[in-house]
Amino acid sequence: MDSFLIEGGEPLKGVIEVSGSKNAALPIIMASIAVDDEVVYTNVPDLRDIHTTINLLNILGREAELRDGVVTVKNGALSMEAPYDLVKTMRASVLCLGPLLARLGEAKVSLPGGCAIGARPVDQHLSALEKMGASFDLENGYIHGRCPGGLKGAHIRFDFPTVGGTENVLMAACLARGETVLENAAREPEIVDLANFLIRCGARIEGQGTTMMHVWGVERLRGCSYRIMPDRIEAGTFLIAAGVTGGELLLRHCPLGDMSAVVDKLRAAGMVITEVPEGVLARVGEEGLKCVDVCTRPHPGFPTDMQAQFMVLMCCAQGSGLVEENIFENRFMHVQELVRMGADIHVTGSSAMVRGGRKLTGAPVMASDLRAGAALVLAGLAAEGETRVQRIYHVDRGYEHLADKLSAVGARIRRVKEAD
Ligand code: UD1
Repeated sequence: MDSFLIEGGEPLKGVIEVSGSKNAALPIIMASIAVDDEVVYTNVPDLRDIHTTINLLNILGREAELRDGVVTVKNGALSMEAPYDLVKTMRASVLCLGPLLARLGEAKVSLPGGCAIGARPVDQHLSALEKMGASFDLENGYIHGRCPGGLKGAHIRFDFPTVGGTENVLMAACLARGETVLENAAREPEIVDLANFLIRCGARIEGQGTTMMHVWGVERLRGCSYRIMPDRIEAGTFLIAAGVTGGELLLRHCPLGDMSAVVDKLRAAGMVITEVPEGVLARVGEEGLKCVDVCTRPHPGFPTDMQAQFMVLMCCAQGSGLVEENIFENRFMHVQELVRMGADIHVTGSSAMVRGGRKLTGAPVMASDLRAGAALVLAGLAAEGETRVQRIYHVDRGYEHLADKLSAVGARIRRVKEAD
C-alpha cells in the first residue's frame, strides 16, 4: 500500500491540465453495453475506477481497453453477471444493471454493500426498473433482475434526485418500448454528458439538465466516438490547492460553467477566480481567506464531493463557518484526521463548525474515502512540516496522477511504499 509524503508550506505556481471526469466516464463507458457497435471514448482519465469498469466490461463479454486516454469497447456476446469481487471495489458497477436488462432481459449484479460514507442503497434504481416491467430477487448477495418480455416505458418519480438511479434508468429507457418520463431526475452535468453520448448513439432524449426528462425508446443504439467532459471535482480541488497554499494556479480545461456553486463560495471566501483565454486563474485576494457557511445539495447546489476539500480551505481562513452535509450520512470521516493536524472542528449530527485561523501542522493521517483523501492531501500542502497520507488507494480511484500534477506546480509531494 502506498502513501503520499508531503512537505507542506510551498505556494503552488503554474499550469495544471484538468483531466476527464471520472463520474461522467463511468456511466458513459458502462452505457457501451447498450450499444451494438464499437465505441471509442477520448479524454478518459487513467484511474482505478476506470480500470475496474474496463475489467467489468470484459467479464460481461465486451472487448474493452484503455490506452493513452482512449477507451475502445468492441462488440462481443454479452453475458449477464457482474461478480461480487468487482462490485465490492466500486459501487458504480451497479450501473450495468439498466443497460444489461435492456439488452438481455436478464441481469445478475452483486448487491453493493455499504461504504465508508454511508449505507448508499439502490432501492430507487430497482423500483424504477420494476415500473418498467422488471422483477428482482435477492439471491446469495446478488440482485437478479428479469424482464422476459423486454422493458417498457413508464412514468417514474424519484423520491430523491439520485445520480446513479437517474443514469441507470436513462440507459435502460433508451431501449425500452415507448416513452419514459423521469420526474425529479438528477441534474448533474455528468448526466447531461451521458445523455449527450446516448443521443450521439441514436437515442431520443429531451430535458437533460432539468428535473424532468423524456426518453423515447429506439430499436438499437449505434457506435460513435465521444469525448468525456472535464472533471469539475478535480478542478475544484486544484482551485482550493491554490487557496490553501497562497499560490497561483492556471487550470486548463476547467469547466467553470458547471462549477457555479463552488466558485461562488470560493469567491465569497476571498479567492480571486478569473477566466482568461488560456483557462481559469486562481489565487487568494488581497484581504486573505475568510470562513463562509456551506451546505451540500443536489446540483446545482454545492456538491457533496467538494465538502471535505472546502473544509480544509476554511481551516486555513479567518473566522468561523458551518459546513452542513445533506447528501450522505457519515461523510465527516476527514474531520478527526484534520483535528490531528491542528484543526478546530466540532461535528454535531450532519453539521461541522469550523473555527479557522490556526496553523495546520504535518502528521501521519489516513484516507477513509476518495474525497476525504483529497482533503488530507490539501491539508498536507498547507501544513507546516511533514504529512504522510496513508491508504491513498482511495485517492487513486478518482485523481489522475495527483502527485505528478502537484509536483509540477511546486508541491513537495511524493508517493512512497507504506513500509518506507
Ligand atoms: C454519485 C457520485 C458521487 C456523488 C453522488 C452525489 C458517481 C460514480 N458517484 O453517487 O461521487 O457523491 O452522486 O452527488 O457518479 N439513495 C437512496 N436510494 C437509492 C439511491 C440513492 O437512498 O436508490 C441515497 C444515497 O444513499 C445517498 C443519496 O441518495 O444518500 C445520493 O445518492 P446518489 O445521488 O444516488 O449518489 P451516487 O449515484 O451513489
